[in-house]
Amino acid sequence: MNLPDYKHAKSRGKEQVKKESYIYNDSYSTLGLNKTYHVKTYGCQMNEHDSENIKAMLEQLGFTEEDNYLKADLVLLNTCSIRENAHNKAFGMLGRLKHLKETKPDLLVGVCGCMAQEEGVAKELVTKFKWVNFVFGTHNLDQLPVILSRVLEEKTKELEIEVLSEEGNLIENIPVKRANKFRAFVNIIYGCDKFCTYCIVPYTRGKERSRAKEDILTEVESLVKEGYQEVTLLGQNVNAYGKDLPGSYYMENLLEDVAKTGIPRVYFMTSHPWDFTDNMVNVIAKFPNIMPSIHLPVQSGSNRILKLMGRRYTKEDYLTLFYKIKEKIPRVTISTDIIVGFPGETDEDFENTVDLVNECKFDNAFTFIFSKREGTPAAKMVDNISLDIKNQRLYRLNKIVNNYFLENNKKLEGQTVSVLVEGIRANKLGLYGYTDTKKLINIDSLDKDLIGKIISVEVTKAKTWSLDGKKVRD
Ligand code: 5AD
Ligand code: SF4
Repeated sequence: MNLPDYKHAKSRGKEQVKKESYIYNDSYSTLGLNKTYHVKTYGCQMNEHDSENIKAMLEQLGFTEEDNYLKADLVLLNTCSIRENAHNKAFGMLGRLKHLKETKPDLLVGVCGCMAQEEGVAKELVTKFKWVNFVFGTHNLDQLPVILSRVLEEKTKELEIEVLSEEGNLIENIPVKRANKFRAFVNIIYGCDKFCTYCIVPYTRGKERSRAKEDILTEVESLVKEGYQEVTLLGQNVNAYGKDLPGSYYMENLLEDVAKTGIPRVYFMTSHPWDFTDNMVNVIAKFPNIMPSIHLPVQSGSNRILKLMGRRYTKEDYLTLFYKIKEKIPRVTISTDIIVGFPGETDEDFENTVDLVNECKFDNAFTFIFSKREGTPAAKMVDNISLDIKNQRLYRLNKIVNNYFLENNKKLEGQTVSVLVEGIRANKLGLYGYTDTKKLINIDSLDKDLIGKIISVEVTKAKTWSLDGKKVRD
């Protein structure tokens, strides 16, 4: 049994992380024969991509995927810690699985992901969720076959829990079962060293570790060969790419080399404004296949709150970068994340956020109420704002940002945009896809041959969260 410990999770050793190749032991290949699995994923794209690795590893063991968790032999929850509601969802699901296990005693239940990396949660699982079969964390995902072999071969009834406090080596070549046939996620950097005071990620995901450029480029090149149209370069803070590696090859160099592979679309997320260099802006402007869409979390428009958040920039710094991006990259869309109700946020602080939003008129914004994360510095700050006020601020902010989504979308009416067609709409009345500026668009066509292709679409109507359009004749 190994449990996480924040004292170690916080440490940032200077030594460079070593690289290792995923080792697959053939003797495990029948562990899951005639058994099904269901992986439930909570949280961000990192977790979604981890689940793509987890699914492929389970299939190597002989398991097959089952869409309905009620019918699966193994249910694995890949959890998220970012806010309390993500926690509550996973614990709610665990409650349902406990009932299910009462009628299906052979059901295997596992928990992995960020919640498993939390000191408090891991302890709670050991004491109150003994019926769970196995738990592993984000640092030992590649060990899933070994952990499962212990659970299945030794038929142990004890909870098998293996969570490491510190990141180990960087593991390459973990198999992957991609959820989408045209858009792929590629990790470029793991972890985060920014330690924003509200955020649990640096504890659950460890220190910043960049993958070698050769490994990233080889992966993208093989995606090109397989016909993928879009790649998202993933990291909690992608702009720190390369800083932990010897030499001077950074995000701007990687972006350029990825663009040169010829993949039709390159997107990347998430960018911390602190590490966003002029060179990056220039590279994005230069290569037409780097999507003109940037996720640039601002978090607050108040300098006082930004300082308390440990964000390392002022509202003025953010605006300077914002305008530089807007000026140099034609058609660019900028999306953001905003937290309201940070401990001590006054009406004036909040008004500063509103002012910033009115100035930037973001194309998309993810807005959150501050959620106290045990172990982070902000969890110790006096949180004297009532939930009522937090809700009112969120409500007001959402109304404002939504108006700008519509205002920006309206500017596209009558224009022809480039769209990667993703599939048939849920209502079966047409197709849908995303523009190169990351806007959802419904297309007035049922031609299935267009799925997976990049086509020209004329925008006929703008709405708050989507556009309507019709295919332009070639
Ligand atoms: N409370 C509320 N929102 C948070 N985020 C991160 N931590 C917290 C927290 N403790 C938000 C930030 C971040 C996004 C992924 O989640 O806005 O950019
Ligand atoms: Fe969290 Fe800040 Fe790192 Fe983003 S940059 S993952 S908000 S600590």
